[in-house]
Amino acid sequence: MTSSTPTIRATDSSAINDVLVIGFSREDKRGKKSFSLHSGSLKVDQAPLLEALEDLGATGAADEVIKLPGTTNKLVVLTGLGETPKNSEFAHETLRRAAGAASRTLAGHSSATFALPHSSSAEFAAIAEGALLGAYAFAEFRGSSKAEQKLPLSKISIYTKISTKTDTAKLLKRASVIAKYTFIVRDLINTPPSHLTPDSFCQRFKKLASGTKLKVEILDEKQLRKLGYGGIIGVGQGSANPPRLLRISYQPTNKNAKRFALVGKGITFDTGGLALKPAQGMEAMKSDMSGAAVVCAAALAIAELQLPVAIDAWAPLAENMVSDTATRPSDIITIYGGKTVEVLNPDAEGRLVLADAMMKAAEIGAKAGGLDGLIDVATLTGAQVVALGKRTSAVMTNNESFSRQFLDLADQTGEQFWPMPLPEELRASLDSPVADIANIGDRMGGMLVAGLFLKEFVAPELPWLHLDIAGPAYNDVKPHGYTPVGGTGVALRTLVALAESVASR
Ligand code: BES
Ligand code: MN
Ligand code: ZN
Repeated sequence: MTSSTPTIRATDSSAINDVLVIGFSREDKRGKKSFSLHSGSLKVDQAPLLEALEDLGATGAADEVIKLPGTTNKLVVLTGLGETPKNSEFAHETLRRAAGAASRTLAGHSSATFALPHSSSAEFAAIAEGALLGAYAFAEFRGSSKAEQKLPLSKISIYTKISTKTDTAKLLKRASVIAKYTFIVRDLINTPPSHLTPDSFCQRFKKLASGTKLKVEILDEKQLRKLGYGGIIGVGQGSANPPRLLRISYQPTNKNAKRFALVGKGITFDTGGLALKPAQGMEAMKSDMSGAAVVCAAALAIAELQLPVAIDAWAPLAENMVSDTATRPSDIITIYGGKTVEVLNPDAEGRLVLADAMMKAAEIGAKAGGLDGLIDVATLTGAQVVALGKRTSAVMTNNESFSRQFLDLADQTGEQFWPMPLPEELRASLDSPVADIANIGDRMGGMLVAGLFLKEFVAPELPWLHLDIAGPAYNDVKPHGYTPVGGTGVALRTLVALAESVASR
């Protein structure tokens, strides 16, 4: 069961007898603070609303949402847009978040009309996306408390006058696809390891892909062992839930299409293995399969949008457990392709399963005529969270222009990514006295060391991005904007945008 996305439509009718969402911002003119309202092309009676904002002591900050009883509308919801920009043009992400915050606050209502400022199709799309992404709830495991959980919005209308010159239907279709697959990622992340194992992860995607032109292939533990996937086997061998390697491929009709491999870390639970993690906070490690969920969902989204790009999504899946069969510190494993790794710390498991899958992805890509890029997505290091916090992901690369391209797209999708280096001098810390490489090196710069480890498993001429989403993949703090508590779905939007941008060349 997956969380459903609301229906969405564009409207230019002013016959609004429903919940109405509009924006407000604040400005400071020579020491005098004031608010302004932004309802796009919809005319509203501003005076009483502005007065109410003053009376309530509103601030206008982003994420502030104020509900007022309406006169023509059942309810008027004012969503904060922050400072009024000089040219009165709000950043797309500001609109996306404001729509999302309002949508989130409207759980318990069934429908709402969003009248937020926009003149371009990109602004319209951002509002639609935010409104949809905020309407999420994970209810699968509610029993007796089900009735207490408010249902998210199920019908969204975007008030707009751009329909005459823009194909809003196409923009809304895209926004809905983004929301649908983001929700699938969030659902998978939120599903605990009692209900999500390497095998059930595969079965879920097999079901999602059935009836589409996507091809799904699954290697089980016997095949993995026989074929030499020492990383996936090594990490999974301590668990009663055996590992898998899932491949989802999409081949568009255009045979000359560019080809990308996406590889996602799929640890359905990371106890740390014999380097057992402390109990406090370990529950968040149900999110350690976020990368796998994102790359598989991205492949499905790209296929549903029929983008002319060939995609191979790879999910190496394992449960990192403690048992008498678990990998011991000092064990040596052989990654697919023959490189040996001394496992000094079984908690540095993500890089081991990724190494196997990246090697295989490049081999298959080469057979298919060569890859134009390989991107791995992983909740890889606690050091990522220390360096960039809970909302900014890291990008590491062997190809600056590929990285630049990705970062520019992330600016448009509103996902926060930041470039990080792979300093050569840290590589020596991964040297092993007994194997080709060790799985841990310097603790300082741990995110970069992990990136350098992965770099050993990519040919230098293959454009490669390593996305460490350890912090942003899972929100264990408070909801904000269109982001709920739990799985976020981060990286999906930029991966889809990348496919769109190479497709449109
Ligand atoms: N899954 C964790 C990384 C992680 C930490 C993700 C916090 C999300 C939030 C990863 O497998 C891990 O345990 N990494 C170790 C690596 C270390 C042993 C070199 C870490 O970061 O401590
Ligand atoms: Mn770990
Ligand atoms: Zn992990």
